[in-house]
Amino acid sequence: TRVDGIGLLGCGTVGASVARRLLALHPQLVRAIAVRDPHKPRAVEWADFESDPFEVVDDPAVRVVVECIGGVGLARELVLRAIARGKDVVTANKDLIATEGPWLAAFAARTGASLRYEAAVGGAIPIVRAMAGSLANEDVLEIGGVVNGTTNFILDAMSDGAGYDEALAEAQRLGYAETDPRADVDGHDAAHKLAILAGLAFHRPSVSGRIARRGIGALTAEDVRAGAERGWRLKLLAVARRVEEPPAAEGDRALVVEAGVTPAYVPADHPFARPRGAENVVRVVGAGCGELLFAGTGAGGDPTASAVVADVVAALESRERHVPAHAGPDLQTVPLRLPAF
Ligand code: NDP
Ligand code: HSE
Repeated sequence: TRVDGIGLLGCGTVGASVARRLLALHPQLVRAIAVRDPHKPRAVEWADFESDPFEVVDDPAVRVVVECIGGVGLARELVLRAIARGKDVVTANKDLIATEGPWLAAFAARTGASLRYEAAVGGAIPIVRAMAGSLANEDVLEIGGVVNGTTNFILDAMSDGAGYDEALAEAQRLGYAETDPRADVDGHDAAHKLAILAGLAFHRPSVSGRIARRGIGALTAEDVRAGAERGWRLKLLAVARRVEEPPAAEGDRALVVEAGVTPAYVPADHPFARPRGAENVVRVVGAGCGELLFAGTGAGGDPTASAVVADVVAALESRERHVPAHAGPDLQTVPLRLPAF
């Protein structure tokens, strides 16, 4: 039996896109897919959906557990079980990482498991890996921006004349919103993502419960229009910024960071004004790197799956398991036709 199998938990908006991508890339590695209702029709070519996700985690042939269920109940139990068994875990679950990530990572370090969560912030934008890799030694002064696609989509639609309820329903239809969309509109989701970013940027355990938060639920079309008349765009911002120099030597004094989620008017030419629809932007300001911008699609099945699958492949490669090489004829190139600018 191969022991480099992948077990997928959940096959909804994100899980179905992950399944399609993995089945296209590494069909022989996908071992099992667990869902709540195995009989529900879905656009994934898989014959035998499992209804018990714990069986998938316990399957000795599953080495990489991909959690795409969400929430901090069942998903937490499954992730804990996978870590306890020393398996590699990949998750898109910002709720879980922002509430229990620090100790889950510590637990994983003890069992030889790994925990990857690139998709938990910014959908397709590779911000987690950038912060944990290239920018790991940067002296970060500020991090944040627009990190919730649903609220950005709603505010954008309202500025085009749509009603709040209509825009939210469309964001749900497009798969951007959380199962309970209050997580988006009340700012919880943005607070989770900010906690994760702040933890990576400032190298301290960071959880979202301590982040002050205001959502967009009380905003009206008049608020959006009044800003537009002045050349401003209304955005839900999530920003963490250092307010105190760190101690010269690492002591037990806590690093002070101001952090919050709030709607704000942003000048139209500011980077935070740029995201359209479900796009996100994260700005990192560092003493050495200056201002860096990370922008792209922040929600939806395929963009999120792009980040999840990258983590799955990294997990497979990290233990030098057999990852099939690219197959087929050599890459052919043809002359570039420049687009009209
Ligand atoms: P969905 O609600 O679309 O999918 C959830 C999946 O979990 C479904 O396939 C459901 O099964 C399955 N599930 C629920 N309960 C059980 C159970 N008891 N046993 C087995 N499977 C179960 O959610 P999303 O795909 O939108 O989100 C998944 C995760 O990804 C969440 O953590 C979310 O925050 C995160 N995320 C989502 C993004 C997005 O744009 N949607 C972007 C980034 C992260 P069934 O299909 O049978 O109901
Ligand atoms: N509900 C989230 C959002 C999904 O709208 O940004 C992506 O994390």
